[in-house]
Formats: sequence, structure tokens, C-alpha cells
Amino acid sequence: MAEMDPSIWFRRDIGPYLTDDSRFVYNQWGGIAEEDLPLHLHNIRDKAWRLSKYPCIGLWIFLLPGMGAFPQFPTLLARSQQPNSIVLDIGCGLGQELRLFAAHGVPTDRMWAVDIEPGLWTLGYDLFRDAGRMKARFIERDFRTLPDEAFHDLVASKRVVGLSKPGTMLVGSQQGRLQAEEYQWPWGVMFHHNLESFIRLWDEVQRKTNTRWTVDARMADVPEFGVQEEDISWMLEDKQWIRFVITRVA
Ligand SMILES: C[S@@+](CC[C@H](N)C(=O)[O-])C[C@H]1O[C@@H](n2cnc3c(N)ncnc32)[C@H](O)[C@@H]1O
Repeated sequence: MAEMDPSIWFRRDIGPYLTDDSRFVYNQWGGIAEEDLPLHLHNIRDKAWRLSKYPCIGLWIFLLPGMGAFPQFPTLLARSQQPNSIVLDIGCGLGQELRLFAAHGVPTDRMWAVDIEPGLWTLGYDLFRDAGRMKARFIERDFRTLPDEAFHDLVASKRVVGLSKPGTMLVGSQQGRLQAEEYQWPWGVMFHHNLESFIRLWDEVQRKTNTRWTVDARMADVPEFGVQEEDISWMLEDKQWIRFVITRVA
């Protein structure tokens, strides 16, 4: 792979990435006044970029509504507001998804966050000005346990299954491709699923773990998420995005 310069996924200005949904979280949960928000976001984003050169940071994608854009968000919210429910964010980065739930009244002491880079999580306290209020427990960890990289997705999914019980919902999105294939990015190797390979993976997970799940997965063009076309020219030609809600039924 030709060396990629991370500056191609760095955008100086916030542009259209600060939506009303995320303003709500920063105002409501962070208590940050509207007029202070742009400078505040620039300060934290630039610190985060020095830590991790991910497109979601450089391109302000962390400001987009994330889970809030899922049609299932009201269901997720209702579920997470039930007593004894647990919200777990794997690869949480700055932790903005958990703050979205917090802003909607979900108690943070029932939240868990996992990331290999603890600096991002720590910066999240500054981003949302909630040190002392954000009670989610953070675990610094590489989510993979087995060394066999070729089966990374299967290993990770089986580990998630191990943490689940009937009723657990797994919700997320990831970069996919029309042609399922792995790709070496500067931040690591990613296997980009297409819909068929993603569903096959979950068939296999169910078989191997003896559990039953309903898999609601669909492919979308990236711009549907609010990402600007001009910011993703560096992505692969056949790029897609997979959005999934997977619910354990037995
Ligand atoms: C693309 S960022 C997404 C961050 C956040 N979920 C968001 O939507 O903005 C991927 C995150 O996963 C973390 N990560 C990457 N590999 C990981 C691993 N093996 N175990 C735990 N976290 C990992 C990175 O440190 C980074 O914060």
C-alpha cells in the first residue's frame, strides 16, 4: 500500500458537522454555552488529533449524531433506560455515544467503555466537562484476545456474545465495501464486509456460540451519515457503510 498522509482526513473547520442533535448533547449534558462551543471543540479536537490520527477525529465525524441517527434509537433509548440495563461502548474513542445516552437521561453508572487508547477517553471528560459526573467505567484494553488476526471479526463477535444475554442489542456502523476484503490502513488492517459476508459472519457466530440473534443489517452510501462527499475522496472506490442492529433472542 502506498503510504497515506493522514492530513487528507483532516478538516480545519467544523463546517456542517455540528448538527442540532450533537449541539443538544453539548448544551444539555456538557452545559457548554452555544457561543463557547466552536472554540471549545477546536481545542479538544486538535488535542485528540495529536493522540490518534483517525478520520473520525480529523474530519469531525465524532460530532455527527451516531446512534442518534439510527431509526432504532428510540427503542435503544427506552431499553437503556430500563433498570438493570447496561450500555457498553466498544472502541469508544472520546465517548460521545455514551454522552448521547446520558443527555437523554440514561444513568452513567450503568455504562461501560472500552478502548485501546485511554487518552481519548480522558480527553472526553474535557470535551463534555463532566469529570466527576460521568460515572461510566472505562477499561483500557485491546478488545482482541486471540492472536489469530485472520479471524479477528469472528473472535471479537464471539467475545461480545460472551458478554450478552437474551435481549442484548448490538448496535453500530462500520466501513464496508461492495467487495468484501481486508485493507491495510495507517491505523491497522480492517476487514471491510459487504452485506453477504457480514451476515455469514453472524451465521457462524450463532453456530459456534449456540445462541440465536436477529440480524438487521443494511448497506448505505457513506454520505447518508452526514459525512461530506468532498471529505471521503481518499476512501476506497467501492466504499459502503454497514449499519447494524443485532438482537439476541435465545
Ligand atoms: C474509528 S475510531 C471510532 C471511535 C468512536 N466509536 C466513534 O464513533 O467516534 C476507533 C476507536 O477504536 C479504538 N480501537 C481500535 N482498535 C481497538 C482494539 N483492538 N480494542 C479496543 N479499542 C480499539 C481506537 O482507539 C479508536 O478510539
